[in-house]
Amino acid sequence: MEAKKFIEREVEEIKKTVGSGRAISALSGGVDSAVATILAHKALGPQLKIVFIDHGLMRENEPQEVKVAFQRLGIELEIVDAHNEFFQALRGKVDPEEKRKAFRYAFYKVFGREVLKSKAQFLIQGTIAADIIETKGGIKTQHNILEQIGIDPEKGFGFKVIEPLKELFKHEVREVGKALGLPEHMYKRMPFPGPALATRIIGEVTPERVALVRKATKIVEEEVAAFQPFQAFAVLMNDMGTGVVEGKRKFGHIIIVRSVESQDAMTAQPTPLPWDVLTKIARRITEEIPAVVRVAYEITSKPPATIEYI
Ligand code: XMP
Repeated sequence: MEAKKFIEREVEEIKKTVGSGRAISALSGGVDSAVATILAHKALGPQLKIVFIDHGLMRENEPQEVKVAFQRLGIELEIVDAHNEFFQALRGKVDPEEKRKAFRYAFYKVFGREVLKSKAQFLIQGTIAADIIETKGGIKTQHNILEQIGIDPEKGFGFKVIEPLKELFKHEVREVGKALGLPEHMYKRMPFPGPALATRIIGEVTPERVALVRKATKIVEEEVAAFQPFQAFAVLMNDMGTGVVEGKRKFGHIIIVRSVESQDAMTAQPTPLPWDVLTKIARRITEEIPAVVRVAYEITSKPPATIEYI
């Protein structure tokens, strides 16, 4: 794939498909939706409305960072605060697929409202090849695959879906992002799943538990930055573990640190992070988040484990 040719071709294709109509795109903070949105913006300019649905499961400061990064590219977007709706949908759910479904349902409810408001006839989605392969293979339901919720993508909610990246793998999406002028920290950014921090919480997703995993994620991202792993993050376990603090036994949370190397997310190997980096991560997490008493490093490849935990 030659990035420049791909961009020219897709921009033309989007222009042709949308004509004088209107389109809408939802940004997730990840590289896929960013690249799909910039392609669509290039093709459509003011005919495209861009929304960022803030579901309360983002990494620290993510909505604001994305807004500023897009403003620097001369692209305006609207942040939609939907914390309550998502936490309500996720309340009491512990089964991984149930959580994915709840997230997806809330997403389409909120996004559906924005689509209606925008009067768009076209939806831009950052679906990439791996999403389609894994969903068809029955490995998991990706939230951005409309067929999974019984919506015919040709018809949508009466809308047509445009997926300009559906034949690309992650490294190709990054090349396109670079050629589109995305800043390096954005096109090199680690992949981040649609259901966001919900994929990194075993058990119930509550605002308190999201806050824990968000803080731990920030520490992991800071400490591994120099190694540029494909993806690195923190996961919150459901059970509590025993610790000892100032001579007293204390039950606290358990955080798993996951860092993997991969080309396209279809297979992955654990990153051989130096021991001092790992122990520093453990020290920082337990010091800066006193509710956590144990930190473990995951050493499983994909397969058999997936990268995310749900
Ligand atoms: P897994 O966990 O399946 O992840 O090994 C493979 C890659 O896909 C990302 N991922 C998702 N991305 N919606 C997304 O947009 C999802 O539901 C989803 N689940 C996993 C994951 O972060 C990894 O890069």
